[in-house]
Amino acid sequence: MKKVLAINGSPHGLWGTCSNIINVMFEEFEKHNIETEMVNVVELKIKTCKGCAVCLTKGVCPMKDDVKGLQDKMIEADGIITASPLFLNHISGLLKIFLDRCLPIGHRPVLHGKVAVSVASYGGVGNVEVIGDYLLEFMQGSGARPVGEIHAIGVDGKLSEQEQKNAVKLAVDMLEDYKNLDSYDWHSDYMSRDNARGMKEFINNTKDFATADYEFWKEKGWID
Ligand SMILES: Cc1cc2nc3c(=O)[nH]c(=O)nc-3n(C[C@H](O)[C@H](O)[C@H](O)COP(=O)(O)O)c2cc1C
Repeated sequence: MKKVLAINGSPHGLWGTCSNIINVMFEEFEKHNIETEMVNVVELKIKTCKGCAVCLTKGVCPMKDDVKGLQDKMIEADGIITASPLFLNHISGLLKIFLDRCLPIGHRPVLHGKVAVSVASYGGVGNVEVIGDYLLEFMQGSGARPVGEIHAIGVDGKLSEQEQKNAVKLAVDMLEDYKNLDSYDWHSDYMSRDNARGMKEFINNTKDFATADYEFWKEKGWID
């Protein structure tokens, strides 16, 4: 593994609990001479998806902002951490706005050969696992191997000893799963899921409209 990218969806950016967890993981990666980079979504210019669907018909989003640069970083990285605080029982709006713009990556998965984890922080109210389930589903739908998820209580920004241990373990798990990527059958794992079955139907039903999607799936041999 050469590079790990963390996409931090906390508006607290560098001083929040999500970034504290990411930094513990980064220390572990750095011991293995793995390059690390944290991108704080709050520092980027990201326009809201207009729902024009040009990314599905023509293949490229017409909006010009920082989205393409961050997507390129995802494609370059070997490991991807997505992180979010729990905001009213889901991921932050900041991160969601970015992920909405990643629709074409979900339709035409390009994150193969990468491992992905999710990190969450919350005040202890509600089901924080919603974040991990949601983010890992997105990453797997985009081609990556989902490894695991952790969360921490972020009242004073400090991590407990156990939370730090969990962060180190998740980093180690990422390294291990990356080493064993050859034995992971992404196609069977992903295609057996409800979302993938729905996607296959969608691609078939919209082939005259979402032509970029259909051609991609056809070329991959995922559709008749
Ligand atoms: C708008 C908003 C909504 C929040 N909703 C929840 C919530 O539903 N459940 C919860 O436990 N904490 C909630 N919190 C608290 C944050 O999840 C918590 O402070 C988190 O640790 C912040 O992480 P960060 O420092 O990485 O941004 C909310 C905070 C804000 C600002």
